Amino acid sequence: MPEVLAQEPALGGDAASRFKQAQAGPNADRIAGKDRLAQLLLELLHYGHPRFRGYDRARAALALAAQMRQACSQPFSLSERIAMSYSLDQFVSDCRAILKRDPGPHGREEVRTRLERLLHERDFVDQYCAPQAPRGLKVLYEDPELGFQILAHINDKARMSPPHDHGASWAIYGQATHYTDMIEWERGDNGDAGKAKLKPVKKYRLMPGHAGIYQDGTIHSIDYPDSARFIRVTGTNLDNIQRVRFDLATGEVHQMHPQQAT
Ligand SMILES: [Fe+2]
Repeated sequence: MPEVLAQEPALGGDAASRFKQAQAGPNADRIAGKDRLAQLLLELLHYGHPRFRGYDRARAALALAAQMRQACSQPFSLSERIAMSYSLDQFVSDCRAILKRDPGPHGREEVRTRLERLLHERDFVDQYCAPQAPRGLKVLYEDPELGFQILAHINDKARMSPPHDHGASWAIYGQATHYTDMIEWERGDNGDAGKAKLKPVKKYRLMPGHAGIYQDGTIHSIDYPDSARFIRVTGTNLDNIQRVRFDLATGEVHQMHPQQAT
């Protein structure tokens, strides 16, 4: 049986050129290690890579883990970490550029991926979502031109919200600490203003570093434990628009009041 990872797959185009330059530079070992780590991660996402042909998933995963440990053992320098870091200011700038170019669902999806990048920044999470952060809802940014908001929800106690919508807006929830269980709902009635029949259509758990998006009109509910913190990006200030929540027991539809956090 051939050795796992014995043969390197060919790199193409820019990647090949970049790898060659890295191999010749002063930090060749370290850079090559990181290049290799990035490559391995991509292959993990695309499990069908030829290098794993003939191997079961468990063995391939073990081989990958060994290679990743080796690649990770090459430390990043301070300047490299600074160059790679992503700040709230950069996130705001990206949101502005993206939403100006495409305020629709595709642009919002780009914002969601940027939020996930921000939530992987330990400095950001430590500054805004640390255990000692003041409890409550904090507006981190409101765009004076486009109207979107970035909010930190620093929760103390566990909470399960009723199903609700975001009115004419959209919302992106990005988990910073602990987790949030999400349920998306659909109406099984004719859209009556006073009564609704809801059915759950999607359930998942948002873990730290992950973000979920709720486009216009989506109904969802959230359920999180003590001390869960998340960052929410909304298309506008939700306190200024009409929104509804649903009573699952009675089916009644109620207007939401300003400052109702979810
Ligand atoms: Fe919500």
